[in-house]
Amino acid sequence: MSVKSTVHTLGALAPKSDFPLLAASPELVYLDSAATAQKPQSVLDAIAHYYRHTNANPHRGAYALSAAATQAYHDARVRVARFLGVADADTLIFTRGTTEAMNLVATAWGGANVARGDNIVVTRLEHHANFVPWQQLALAVGAEFRICERDASGGVDLEQWARLVDARTKVVAFGQVSNALGTINPVTEMVAIARRAGRALVVCDGAQAVPHLRVNVDALGVDAYAFSGHKIGGPMGSGGLVMRRALLEAMPPYHFGGDMIEWVHDDHTTWNVVPHKFEAGTPNVEAAVGLAAACDYVDGLGMEAVRAHEIALTTEAMRALAAIPGVTLHGSARAEDRSGVVSFSVRDVHPHDVATTLDVEGVCVRAGHHCAQPLMRALGVHSTVRASFWVYNTPPDVHRLAAAVQAAQERFALP
Ligand code: ALA
Repeated sequence: MSVKSTVHTLGALAPKSDFPLLAASPELVYLDSAATAQKPQSVLDAIAHYYRHTNANPHRGAYALSAAATQAYHDARVRVARFLGVADADTLIFTRGTTEAMNLVATAWGGANVARGDNIVVTRLEHHANFVPWQQLALAVGAEFRICERDASGGVDLEQWARLVDARTKVVAFGQVSNALGTINPVTEMVAIARRAGRALVVCDGAQAVPHLRVNVDALGVDAYAFSGHKIGGPMGSGGLVMRRALLEAMPPYHFGGDMIEWVHDDHTTWNVVPHKFEAGTPNVEAAVGLAAACDYVDGLGMEAVRAHEIALTTEAMRALAAIPGVTLHGSARAEDRSGVVSFSVRDVHPHDVATTLDVEGVCVRAGHHCAQPLMRALGVHSTVRASFWVYNTPPDVHRLAAAVQAAQERFALP
């Protein structure tokens, strides 16, 4: 029996043999894909192929190799835009990921459009990348910073959302999926409420959605959408910002330098067209090419299959963990309302002790505040343990997690 069919028998969607790191360490149970996903061989191959055959500085050389690099970069943008349901590929700005995308919008658009007396609305569920840039913008210009709390089910309180977003709201920013809890937010309703209330810029953070859900950015009806490539099997330092063309054309640049200019006069400069206006300096072609290959890989699995696989694993993990004495699960009670994330606490046991015990068993999870300190405060905890699943995880991985948590509970919990 081949490795591939063996693994499928054990319930993986994607064979671990597709992922060199996992194939090299068969005993490893990697449950930290919300932090970063492992990379398929095809992504590594695409990057190596680029460097072996196409590497030159795009947009700059009057020779065939540079033209080939330009073409590879352009093709990657078109491929990733198609994956995200973005018809106008040039409205996809490549960034180092979600954090840089949010800083771009907050600095370039926010700096030019938000003023004293305005307000900005975020939610309690945000990770720092979609919280701190808006908080700092509000502090810098004297705008009010509003936080929409969670309702009894733990999701965004839509009634409060409707009260907080008003005619003076300049920006609403919210995650499509919470990184710490996996909660899937009601984006359609949140956008509709924001549109009815006034003329706020609607910014959606897709960092934890793109690896798990079929995302169609154009259909979401948002003004700006940020995502990270490394969480979907692409390279570290890949990702982007999708933004309405008219907004990109109207707003000032974020970074200055080569390639983003049209004409540089002694006393002023004019800007290149989008997307180049927002991509100063030598672009990260490796990241773009690798990310495009990751999109191919995930499309080969099928996003609907990815989603079904994660719901099955999450259901099983919630059942197994809830059966362990002293374990409290955080977030929605239904696996269908989550991405592949289970965040939990073990009574009397510090999350770092849980994670260290799991590590001894070869199980990798994240323990801490998950870059979501405002949410931790609302949960009344300083940190949690978070297990997050992706396409290569299996039911046996979930059972190894539960057994290791049980061992931690028995070792550390007070009698
Ligand atoms: N945002 C990443 C996480 O949730 C790093 O772990």
